[in-house]
Amino acid sequence: MKVLVTGGCGYIGSHTTVELLKEGYEVVIVDNLINSKRDVLDKIKKITNKSVTFYEIDLCDKEKLRDVFLKEEISAVIHFAGLKAVGESVEIPIRYYKNNLVSTLNLLECMQEFNVKKLVFSSSATVYGNPKTLPIKEDFPLSTTNPYGTTKLMIEEILKDLYHSDPTFDITILRYFNPIGADKSGLLGEDPNGIPNNLMPYILKVATGKLPVLNIFGDDYNTVDGTGVRDYIHVLDLAVGHVLSLKNQKTGLKIYNLGTGRGTSVLELVKKFESVNNIKVNYQITKRREGDIDACYASIDKAHEELGFTPRYTIEDMCLDSYNFIKNNN
Ligand code: NAD
Ligand code: UFG
Repeated sequence: MKVLVTGGCGYIGSHTTVELLKEGYEVVIVDNLINSKRDVLDKIKKITNKSVTFYEIDLCDKEKLRDVFLKEEISAVIHFAGLKAVGESVEIPIRYYKNNLVSTLNLLECMQEFNVKKLVFSSSATVYGNPKTLPIKEDFPLSTTNPYGTTKLMIEEILKDLYHSDPTFDITILRYFNPIGADKSGLLGEDPNGIPNNLMPYILKVATGKLPVLNIFGDDYNTVDGTGVRDYIHVLDLAVGHVLSLKNQKTGLKIYNLGTGRGTSVLELVKKFESVNNIKVNYQITKRREGDIDACYASIDKAHEELGFTPRYTIEDMCLDSYNFIKNNN
């Protein structure tokens, strides 16, 4: 079975591609490399001993995307491609709407034309806004606070309308919580250019001496130690969640949270990182970051019951594997 993976050179897409290849799927990647590097393809080959077919294409270019569907016998699509920086999306919203929405619409038109009806889409816990209670279930109210999040919510709505118009579509929306960690080989991982927005990439820059100090955004939240609580999930568990979604026989439009169901505070994560890697991470408490919420963690009961999804990795594994990757790629 041949799977089209859009954004397959990126952080989550590359790990999922490895998992797909291990499970015997053929993979075609479409990526314009706007936030990734071509050498990821060699690394995937090194890990799996298998090759993928790669097209360096912008999904906003419909004709080029159509050519891929013409050439390849695609059976299913996993759609990762998109821009994802929350702060940047506030500064350049039009670019975010254009990239994330036009690329998705082009993809869906091609899928319709070529009768490819199975889709797995990368959504985000950001669509829950500021939840009133925890853990977060899939049927909680939805709202967003930034253009990035709004693109995810809009795409979810588009997919619901598409399914309503054509129930032969089989669509899975996966709402990820906070993916961290890296492949055990140390070859694949997340290493953004410049100053990272997200916590683990920032910890890694401080741990490797690239940045002097981690700013912890607030210690007056209503949480165990006052710092923000999130549901961190190992990217390898997330990758398995995608393969389970492809294998799932249940048809229709399905929505699942992918997290671990457990919350970890910023300070707990920093302390765990220090202890498992035996390294000091300088930090200071600074003011809250605008838009951040106290706590966010998933109920994963639905994914467990319907997909058989059970995360295997602990916070310790996530800290070890993230650091292992950055040491190998410094
Ligand atoms: P990433 O930036 O590492 O990967 C996205 C890939 O898509 C990149 O390789 C980029 O070059 C490619 N891309 C972007 N626009 C494209 C276009 N128009 N045409 C072709 N390729 C394009 O991001 P990631 O962390 O792997 O995230 C994957 C998906 O999961 C994204 O949709 C993201 O919004 C979503 N998500 C990520 C997180 C997270 O914390 N990493 C959380 C929730 C949801
Ligand atoms: N934090 C710091 N210092 C930093 C970075 C983050 O203290 O330098 C704190 C934040 O305040 C928050 C926690 O670490 O309490 C996690 O922050 P991240 O930026 O790593 O993650 P978020 O939960 O804010 O958001 C991420 C993605 C979103 C996605 C969301 C849910 O950036 O796109 O997870 O999946 F929507």
